[in-house]
Amino acid sequence: MKRSQMLSVLAAVAASALASTATALEIKLPQETAMYKPSSLPGYALALQNCMTCHSAQYVTTQPTSSSRAYWEATVKKMKEPFGAPLKDEDIPVIVDYLVKTYGAERGEAAAPTAKK
Ligand code: HEC
Repeated sequence: MKRSQMLSVLAAVAASALASTATALEIKLPQETAMYKPSSLPGYALALQNCMTCHSAQYVTTQPTSSSRAYWEATVKKMKEPFGAPLKDEDIPVIVDYLVKTYGAERGEAAAPTAKK
């Protein structure tokens, strides 16, 4: 093989290596946009465990920000009965607390570094 042929073979190999890298980048998964907002409240972990099996967090993030604790409680209870979410009764108020403080009427209170008593 002449030197010039050798170089063009090398160039072709390099080009195909670059091409396959580009393909690998193209199949990167789209970013998940409808995730539950991270929180130090214990209900965050419970929401991740219990509230993503049937639908994404989008239903939650699109609720009115004025939604009261009673509204969230009724909503979470509805997920259990009749919709069939396998929620433990003792977890419901914990999840409701996270939801109302993250997405509902009590937003901001959770973010405060020291809770006023
Ligand atoms: C067993 C399946 C299931 C699970 C688990 C589940 N949901 Fe749902 N969720 C539904 C269905 C079904 C709907 C109604 C969808 C529709 O109307 O198109 C819904 C709707 C909603 C809505 C929209 C408002 C409304 O009242 O319809 C919110 C908010 C919601 N879910 C929150 C939650 C939260 C919070 C959790 C975790 C505690 C949860 N869901 C777990 C099935 C589930």
